[in-house]
Amino acid sequence: MDVRAVEQLLTPEGWSLLSRMPPYDEDGALQLASGLRDRGVDPDLVAAVMTQSRLRTRARAKFGDFADEMLFTPEGLEQATRLQVAARHAQRYAAAGATVVADLGCGIGSDAMALAGLGVPVLAVEQDEVTATVAAVNLRAFDSATVRRGDALAIDLQAEGVDAVYADPARRTRSGNRVFDPRAYSPDLDTLLALRATVPALGLKVGPGIPYRALPSETHAQWVSVDGDVVEAGLWFGPLAPEGSGRSALLLGKRGTHLLSQPGDADAAATQAAAGPLGSHLYEPDGAVIRAGLVARVAEELEGTLVDPSIAYITTTAERPTPWATGFRVLDSFDFGLKRLRAYLRDRDVGRVTIKKRGTAVVPDQLRQQLGLKGSADATIVLTRLAGKQSVIVVEPLRG
Ligand SMILES: C[S@@+](CC[C@H](N)C(=O)[O-])C[C@H]1O[C@@H](n2cnc3c(N)ncnc32)[C@H](O)[C@@H]1O
Repeated sequence: MDVRAVEQLLTPEGWSLLSRMPPYDEDGALQLASGLRDRGVDPDLVAAVMTQSRLRTRARAKFGDFADEMLFTPEGLEQATRLQVAARHAQRYAAAGATVVADLGCGIGSDAMALAGLGVPVLAVEQDEVTATVAAVNLRAFDSATVRRGDALAIDLQAEGVDAVYADPARRTRSGNRVFDPRAYSPDLDTLLALRATVPALGLKVGPGIPYRALPSETHAQWVSVDGDVVEAGLWFGPLAPEGSGRSALLLGKRGTHLLSQPGDADAAATQAAAGPLGSHLYEPDGAVIRAGLVARVAEELEGTLVDPSIAYITTTAERPTPWATGFRVLDSFDFGLKRLRAYLRDRDVGRVTIKKRGTAVVPDQLRQQLGLKGSADATIVLTRLAGKQSVIVVEPLRG
C-alpha cells in the first residue's frame, strides 16, 4: 500500500465504494474486482478497495465493528494492539491524570484511539509515511489527537507539554521477521527506558518473551493473554503503575477478566514450585501466568505440584476450579513409545487425537501421521516428562 492508494480511498468515490463492499470473501474477490473494473472504476482504486476490504474483514478480530470505519496497512494491522487491550492501556493514563500523552511509534493508531476515546489528549508520532496517513484517518474523529509524521525520538517532549509517554516499539525487521532482542526494537528499549528520567509516567509494550533480566526492577510488568493467547507484556512505570513494582498476569476473554499479581522486584527470579507424582488431575497454566513466573503461586492455590521440576504442568489429587489454568481429568499414563501409543489408541477406536506437549521434541502433526489412526472416537493426550521420563498422559478436558 502506498500513499496514493490511501489518497484514492479518501476521495468521496473511494470512501463510498469501500463502505459498500460486502464482507471479503477470497472465492468471490476476483469476480467482484473485475465487475468493478467493467463498470469503469479505476483499476488502481479497485485494487486499493479490495486490499482494504480484505484487511477490514481480518481486522474485525481485533477491532470488532470499529474496523468498518478504519484503514489498515498489512503490517500495521499485524502489529496493532487489539482494542480490548488498548483500552486497558488507556485506562492507566486516564487514571494517572495524564494531560498529554506522546505515543512514540503509533502505527495505525490503535493505542492512540483508545487514549483519545477516553478523552486523554494524545500526540501520535509515526515515521512511516503511509502508516502515519492511515493513523490520521483512524484518529479523525478525535479533536484531542494529533498525528505527526517523523522520528519519535526527535520530539521535544517538554516543549510539547507531554507528561506521559506510551511506546509500542516495532519488533519486526524490514523483511517482516520477528525481533526478540529488545536492543533491536525500533525505537530500541534502552532509549525508551531512559525517557523515564524526564517523563516518569512511561508505559511500554514489549514482546512476551522478554527476559526478566531486561526489566528494570521498579517496573510493573504485566503479561496479557486473550482467550489463552499471550499477546504482550506491558511495562508500567511511575504513576501508571499504582499497583507498584512486580509482575502480573492479566487474563482477558470469554472466561472473564482475571488478574494475578505478585509484588516485588520485576526482575526477581520466579519461585520454583515443588514437583510430585501424577495425580488424578492435570492443569495447564495460562501462558500469561507462565510468562509472569507465577506457576508456583497457581500450584499453591490448587494444592498441586509440578509433573517435573522444569515443566509447567500442575497435577492435583482432586478437581480444583480455577481461572488460571485449563483442567483435565487424568485417564491413564505410560512411558512414551510409538508402538505402545498406537496400540493404546487403536484399541480404543480413536481416530482424532488432540496432542498437547511440553518438554518434548515430538512434532504433533508428524506423530499424528505416524499413528495413522482411523477410528471414530476422540482422545486428548499430553506428551511430557514424568519423573524425568518421556511419557504420555491420556486426559479428558474438564467442563467449564
Ligand atoms: C508496533 S507498531 C505500533 C502499533 C500501535 N501501538 C497500534 O496499536 O496500532 C510500531 C510502530 O513504530 C514505528 N516506528 C518505529 N521506529 C520509529 C521511530 N523512531 N519514530 C517513529 N515511529 C517509529 C513503526 O513504523 C511502527 O509503525
